[in-house]
Amino acid sequence: MCGIVGYIGSRQAQDVLISGLARLEYRGYDSAGVAVADGGQVVVKKKAGKLANLSGELEQQPLPGTLGIGHTRWATHGLPNDTNAHPHTTEDGRLVIIHNGIIENYLSLKAGLIERGHTFQSETDSEVLAHLIEEAYAGDLEAAVRAALAQVRGAYGIVVTHVDHREIVAARTVSPLVMGVGEGEMFLASDVPALLPYTRDMVFLHDGDMVVLHDDGYRITDLQGNPQERPIDRIDWDAEAAEKGGYDSYMLKEIYEQPAALTNTLMGRLHDDTGEVNLDISLDPTAFKRISVIACGTAYYAGLVGEYLIEQLARIPVEVDVASEYRYRNPLVSEHTLAIVVSQSGETIDTLEALREAKKGGAKTLGIINAKGSSMTRELDDTLYIHAGPEIGVASTKAYTSMVGAFVLLALWLGRARGTLTDAQAQELLRATRELPRLVEEALNPARVAEIKRVAEKYAQARDYLFLGRGVNAPTAFEGALKLKEISYIHAEAYAAGEMKHGPIALIDANLPVVVVATESHLLEKTISNVQEVRARSGKVIALLSDGDTENAAHADDVLYVPRAHEMVSPVVNAVALQLLAYFTATYLGKDVDKPRNLAKSVTVE
Ligand code: AGP
Repeated sequence: MCGIVGYIGSRQAQDVLISGLARLEYRGYDSAGVAVADGGQVVVKKKAGKLANLSGELEQQPLPGTLGIGHTRWATHGLPNDTNAHPHTTEDGRLVIIHNGIIENYLSLKAGLIERGHTFQSETDSEVLAHLIEEAYAGDLEAAVRAALAQVRGAYGIVVTHVDHREIVAARTVSPLVMGVGEGEMFLASDVPALLPYTRDMVFLHDGDMVVLHDDGYRITDLQGNPQERPIDRIDWDAEAAEKGGYDSYMLKEIYEQPAALTNTLMGRLHDDTGEVNLDISLDPTAFKRISVIACGTAYYAGLVGEYLIEQLARIPVEVDVASEYRYRNPLVSEHTLAIVVSQSGETIDTLEALREAKKGGAKTLGIINAKGSSMTRELDDTLYIHAGPEIGVASTKAYTSMVGAFVLLALWLGRARGTLTDAQAQELLRATRELPRLVEEALNPARVAEIKRVAEKYAQARDYLFLGRGVNAPTAFEGALKLKEISYIHAEAYAAGEMKHGPIALIDANLPVVVVATESHLLEKTISNVQEVRARSGKVIALLSDGDTENAAHADDVLYVPRAHEMVSPVVNAVALQLLAYFTATYLGKDVDKPRNLAKSVTVE
């Protein structure tokens, strides 16, 4: 999730670019760069690290010019350094591009370009775009961009300029781009906050849109060149609201970002036709006999889902530990162990120390991580990035569903490599996995959200909550309980549903809301029996049921219907309802969902 800004008009472009990039800081950056065009040349300046590294240099040596593009990078391919920073240029420096997204087929495109004599500076997927456009360029920049994008598969928000053209050409698919309309000047950005100081008239580009900006206006077409009409929206948000995309909290924004985050997690890794998964990691899938998954909090619950998936699909023994316990229990580790650490921040000290403990024992190590270049990634043998983009809200939401999505990919990859999955099974699971962004989008439809809000407010005064689930959705119950307790401060605990009669059932009374994850599963009948045990003791049952399951609705006081998903991937879809249940409960109680008391986003102290 990078930050992009473009400008053409009468101001000094550098000022607009730096100010705009600073307002996109929440999108995270590993590096930053600008390109400014001035009378027959385009000058590029880019630096690794925070934006301040770049803006400090530009204060000393400003780049004159009234046309420019700027970028802050959330690295996906290639380490965060000066060379991999955007903008990227052609060998002669005459054409300049910036890109947000993931080019799925960049390796094959790059090989072809190198064969045809192109030389590359960086290890990024983005630089391929510069050379593709150059190859297609014959004087018409817009046509060259169109021809290049016709060869590309993946997600992009791309912005291009050329020394011989006083214009900016941009296009988007999956990655956002918004245009700002000024008087005799035009703006472009990944998100609204960058443009608010200059204009409130915005045009939100749609997937497949392409636009050419000139000083006095713009023209929108689709990728085939057909004109497209898009409305100009008047934005009345203040800057802070704009950074939250108009949502009232980062948490809610990140809940709604989950379809896009999952798309990025899966991008380029699923090949339905062959039933293969491509994880671009160097790990030998047959080089270990057992797996240790180590994490904290929400990441730990993602690991519990991973345990179930890997044991079911790859038949490898898995144990899951909270990092703070693992590191002090003198764990049994050998060169036959694969240690998987799971972490959104990649900085959690308990998990980092547990990783070191596993390495001391000779384990091979793999990370399932969001933050590129974080401390853990520098000590791991390999990292499977979840590409969910920066997660600002303390309560983890999109990182959780993307971590579980990554475990689905890993379990499939291991199963295929170790021959425990037939082609038919793999293709069925790949199709189910490919459906996840759409199912999560469906889980967020307004009618469902309204019902979750109603139920949340109905039980918001409860002192305690109990969450129950079975099988692959037992961790879903644990994660749901954590979400509720950490932002609403209501005591909530979770149990494997079958465990309830061994003690927790004593808690059941008319004041106790019991959330039961009872979606489509081979264990559904058993779970419904647990629901009936709760009802028999006057407990209030809030049941998560799969769409269409009207039969079991009779056993619940309230039903939250969720889109029907393949059992093995259903934890991703089911989590959304529980995130929203927690969110609406906490906001109803007036809590600060982004900064809950006593908590920090990344626990870097023991
Ligand atoms: C989850 O909502 C909490 N913010 C917390 O449990 C978090 O998951 C845990 O601290 C681990 O953080 P990490 O994923 O950055 O390692």
